[in-house]
Amino acid sequence: MSNLKDVYILAFESSCDETSVSIVRNGHEEIATVVLSQIDIHTLYGGVVPEIASRQHIEKITLVIDECLKKANMTMQDITAIAVTYGPGLIGSLLIGLQAAKTLAYVYKKPLVPVHHIAGHIYANNLTRDMEFPLIALVVSGGHTELIYMKEHYSFERIGGTLDDAVGEAYDKVARILNLGYPGGPKIDALAREGSVTYELPIPLDDDSYNFSFSGLKSAVINLVHNEEQRGNEIRTADLAATFQDRVVHILTKKTMHALRQYKVHNLIIAGGVSASVGIRDSFASLCKDNNIQLTIPSMQHCTDNATMIGAAGYYAYKLGRRAGLDLNAKATDSLH
Ligand code: KG4
Ligand code: ZN
Repeated sequence: MSNLKDVYILAFESSCDETSVSIVRNGHEEIATVVLSQIDIHTLYGGVVPEIASRQHIEKITLVIDECLKKANMTMQDITAIAVTYGPGLIGSLLIGLQAAKTLAYVYKKPLVPVHHIAGHIYANNLTRDMEFPLIALVVSGGHTELIYMKEHYSFERIGGTLDDAVGEAYDKVARILNLGYPGGPKIDALAREGSVTYELPIPLDDDSYNFSFSGLKSAVINLVHNEEQRGNEIRTADLAATFQDRVVHILTKKTMHALRQYKVHNLIIAGGVSASVGIRDSFASLCKDNNIQLTIPSMQHCTDNATMIGAAGYYAYKLGRRAGLDLNAKATDSLH
């Protein structure tokens, strides 16, 4: 039952190719969410086409808002505040969610709360279990690979990250060379389960730092495929997917477990689209069990882009008094804060 102290956040996410609106109660309870994916359209082009993405957002955003309110059986009067992803992401896409959020905030006189997309991914975990601190967050998505230390809510200390490609980007490019289509992550992940680790691929940036590098691993796969093709050899796609994922899992788990030890932290959360990988989830689950680490991973639908995570993060930002004016602008890049 709702009471006067309940905070209902109406959240917007449109940073890439998902148009999503959600209503979240008190930062951890999903009331209703609508996610409209454009994957079918972008698949035709082998990746996200920014201009098409923003046009799709414009066409769909008002329908998505209406559907979300209807699903929740709520009106704008029931909403406490409006949270919106302002960045990072595709500018044209971000601007659509931002404009919708600003318009509703203005018309209905609701506070406007800016949310960083990565904060959203991290807070997707708060829908699984109330986050416990201190924690280490591993964010693995199409645009990011970051290790973050959080000593309390909304305090983000970046301790490492990728020096070049994001993990998801590497998955998508490897999938493309193997003609698996877009997005490649789920396809590689599924194939990897059928294959064996039989190819020679390097473990990327295997040092003591908290940084990652995935462009060398990606290039190694591309070179391997070209060499095999030139020799007239058939590629064992499932084995190559298994070997690629093995190297990714090896380096992600090694550096994350190292960070947990160094920072003396017993809570790990994983976030971002790539955390939907069953291979990655299973490896972390067994390592954390062996090392007495409490692992939290978002449910599958909260791993990839969605507004529910923005509503969860938005609640804590709202509680901290973070507000934006109607001049809030979209940012293609911005550090997490
Ligand atoms: O978080 P997200 O939806 O968008 C960004 O903020 O980037 O992440 C998308 C990325 C894509 O690279 C996609 O291939 C990857 O997440 N992904 C996966 C899986 N599902 C999505 N990667 C590996 N295994 C999966 N099951
Ligand atoms: Zn994302």
